[in-house]
Amino acid sequence: MSLSVVILAAGKGTRMFSDYPKVLHKLGNQPLLQYVIDVAKSLNPENINIVVGYKSKEVISAFPNEKLNWIIQKNQLGTGDAVKYVIPHLKGSQTIVLYGDVPMLQLEDLEQLIKKTQKKLGILTFNKSNPTGYGRIKRIKNNIECIVEEKDCDDTERKITEINTGIICVNTNNLINWLSMISNNNSQKEYYLTDIVALARKEKIQISSQEANSEITITGVNSKIELAIMERALQNKKTNLLMERGVTLLDPSRTDIRGDLKCAMDVEIDVGCIFEGKVQVGNNVKIGAYTHIKDSVISDNTIIKPYSHIDSAKVGINNIIGPYARLRPGTDTNKDVHIGNYVEIKNSKIGTGTKINHLSYIGDSIVGSNVNIGAGTITCNYDGVNKHQTIIEDNVFVGSNSQLIAPVKIGAGSTIGAGSTITKDTPENELSLSRTKQTSIPGWEKPKKN
Ligand code: UD1
Ligand code: CA
Repeated sequence: MSLSVVILAAGKGTRMFSDYPKVLHKLGNQPLLQYVIDVAKSLNPENINIVVGYKSKEVISAFPNEKLNWIIQKNQLGTGDAVKYVIPHLKGSQTIVLYGDVPMLQLEDLEQLIKKTQKKLGILTFNKSNPTGYGRIKRIKNNIECIVEEKDCDDTERKITEINTGIICVNTNNLINWLSMISNNNSQKEYYLTDIVALARKEKIQISSQEANSEITITGVNSKIELAIMERALQNKKTNLLMERGVTLLDPSRTDIRGDLKCAMDVEIDVGCIFEGKVQVGNNVKIGAYTHIKDSVISDNTIIKPYSHIDSAKVGINNIIGPYARLRPGTDTNKDVHIGNYVEIKNSKIGTGTKINHLSYIGDSIVGSNVNIGAGTITCNYDGVNKHQTIIEDNVFVGSNSQLIAPVKIGAGSTIGAGSTITKDTPENELSLSRTKQTSIPGWEKPKKN
């Protein structure tokens, strides 16, 4: 058995009230369509065909790295019309139709559906207490006869609670044949893909069904309210997985994982934290409230205090970071480092045991071990045109409110007097300072108001 996937994604999504095509709206910081593509890929199909229409260029260019076959449907004349466009591209003996706006589909449901379909036709169904809006599965003596769209239902049909999720698996040759037979003779003047069911029945073909595991997995997104509900459902799934593996979340409903968060043992995460991209957290790490971490590694025994921002950084073992610390891309700290409040670090290596505790900017620097950087120290790495490097060797003490004008090297063991502007390399183990001597003017009088 070989399989082709068709993903329908041509609709505008009118009820989103947005200029963006619906399938590009984001769930967990990824376009809705990405989730459908990912589950499609897990089916190992011959090819993945995506039918686009509304703002097709934008949709296509949002997935530059995927191996996908994009097909443009000129006018949105219905799901049957959309699938017709794909006929020349179908390579598998079976075809499965998915929807670009149904992101939480479960691989197991699809695998079951494909298995049950055997050679002919299978429908993913769901029993919905309020079936309004969905096509109804009409059965006679347990056999599926046809699917009736909401707008074409009579009063008895409208009461049927078994609905068509829209996901259909079908023998490709049969599909092509049946599609040539459907018409738009219905209340919406659309070509319904669902009409192939009645055609199959006419040919006395056994139609199988698979009931989806849970409602959210077959739910489509049509409005911003539904998108927000879906976001919570996705977050619940992610936070449950973490808690099942032993992570302590002080309130899972106030945790957002917009990517892939991997935690080792005894990790504790306070409320309001946002994780983006790939984040890896070691043993015994504590993450304080309202912290934002993106594409970073946090090593064992480290404490991140509240309101810290960490982006593309590697934080070493047994560090204390924050509160209000900002680690920008290329920050790489060794063991036992302390980074305190209002400290910004970018593209810098920080050695073992070094402390940068207050109000500093360290950029494009290599800082050795056991360095103490005083409050308000600035590495002046930018001359207005180019960036330059600052090297601070082991055991240096930089006094508060110093400016280190890069390129510059602070020699091992040296001390920088507070309030200095350092423009030249400093010798090892000496005190360097650049401030004028303090003077007091005797008899000086305060200015008086005229
Ligand atoms: C469809 C099903 C219905 C099912 C429901 C589940 C048909 C006729 N009906 O109805 O039985 O219960 O889905 O949500 O199939 N699309 C295109 N091109 C088109 C029309 C639609 O790509 O010409 C895409 C849309 O972008 C959307 C999907 O197909 O993602 C479903 O289309 P929509 O018109 O919303 O179908 P429903 O009326 O919901
Ligand atoms: Ca419709």
